Amino acid sequence: MPTPHIEAKKGEIAKFVLMPGDPLRAKVMSEKFLENPKLVNKVRNMFMYTGTYKGMEITIAASGMGNPSMGIYSYELYNEYGVENIIRVGTCGAYNKDYRPYSIFNTKDSFGESQFAKIVTGKDEAILPASKQLYDAINQTAEELGIPMLHGRAHASDVFYRSDDSLKLAQEKHLDVAEMETYALFANALRLQKQAGALFTVSDNIVTGEVTTSEERQTKFVKMFEVALETALK
Ligand code: HPA
Repeated sequence: MPTPHIEAKKGEIAKFVLMPGDPLRAKVMSEKFLENPKLVNKVRNMFMYTGTYKGMEITIAASGMGNPSMGIYSYELYNEYGVENIIRVGTCGAYNKDYRPYSIFNTKDSFGESQFAKIVTGKDEAILPASKQLYDAINQTAEELGIPMLHGRAHASDVFYRSDDSLKLAQEKHLDVAEMETYALFANALRLQKQAGALFTVSDNIVTGEVTTSEERQTKFVKMFEVALETALK
């Protein structure tokens, strides 16, 4: 400590971490929700803030985009900083035509299309589960807060601009939403025997073409942070 990618000192990262992909969302959400947020990492502008939420120490740390970036940060947080729980809080595209923008989705498992899991766990599994304990706690929290929650399988895609028929793949592999980071996060959690979960706000519908506007995103994506923070208190 520090690591090649994180300059935080020992003790500056909480045991419970929320990970949005976007560094600026990490900043805005930390300033909104955390008391006394302190910037503990700015290497590569991958902002990480530690503060307290209702008395509990929490870090909100950006992951960057894609499995390789999430793979680096989640590994260092778990392995070097002693983090126990990570909830990814991100956006996703919906493969299910009935999922409306701004719906919230709790990831039961993740489908990956890379060698990431094989390389880190030795097992060539295309589908990796979220930690049951966190998955259940997120569902329970949402129910208590009266926030409707969708559930299912995320496609942790390695390619945003694809030329294959992703809807056909979604049908074959029972994929509900597309994002780009959960496969690496879940693989690292399994390898290191840590807890990992992933919450998404639907930003677009891949079937219907429905999209969100950038100003609405700023306010409406706040709900999933509330669910993640209240889950941390359990
Ligand atoms: N694909 C991958 N990641 C995403 C998408 C998508 O369609 N929408 C939001 N994140």
